[in-house]
Amino acid sequence: MKILVLHGPNLNLLGAREPEIYGSMTLGDLNTKLIEFGKELGADLKCFQSNHEGALIDALHDAQMWADGVVFNPGGYTHTSIALRDAITAIGIPVIEVHLSNVYAREEFRHTSLISAICKGKVVGFGWRSYTLGLRVLVEILDEERANSK
Ligand code: DQA
Repeated sequence: MKILVLHGPNLNLLGAREPEIYGSMTLGDLNTKLIEFGKELGADLKCFQSNHEGALIDALHDAQMWADGVVFNPGGYTHTSIALRDAITAIGIPVIEVHLSNVYAREEFRHTSLISAICKGKVVGFGWRSYTLGLRVLVEILDEERANSK
């Protein structure tokens, strides 16, 4: 099983950026943790971060060729990007939306996600554990789909 973990803008600053909101783990440490956890679950992970909307769209298009699913934290683009939403719809593989912070306990503009409705589901507010929870549920869904298609 192959999974893309995709991180959006400013997440390269994890650990240093508002640690009281996003935690003290760096993006490198988070990716290492996820790759290890993925191995335990029987999934091969590729992790990618970009600050650029187009690069995230390209990564989603590319994932259609090789990945079974995506764990995606689109950062601030969550609240603004129709183009990312269209890309997720276009690729037709399951995408789990994740957020480190509880966006519903924050500014109102963070309460709106343009992608939630077309994602398989979402996990918010558990810090780095939002990613591990998202990854676990994605693997379970894909395992179940495989078993049902036999
Ligand atoms: C975030 C929440 C977004 O509102 C914010 O713009 C981010 C990070 C999160 O993981 O909590 O960059 O996606």
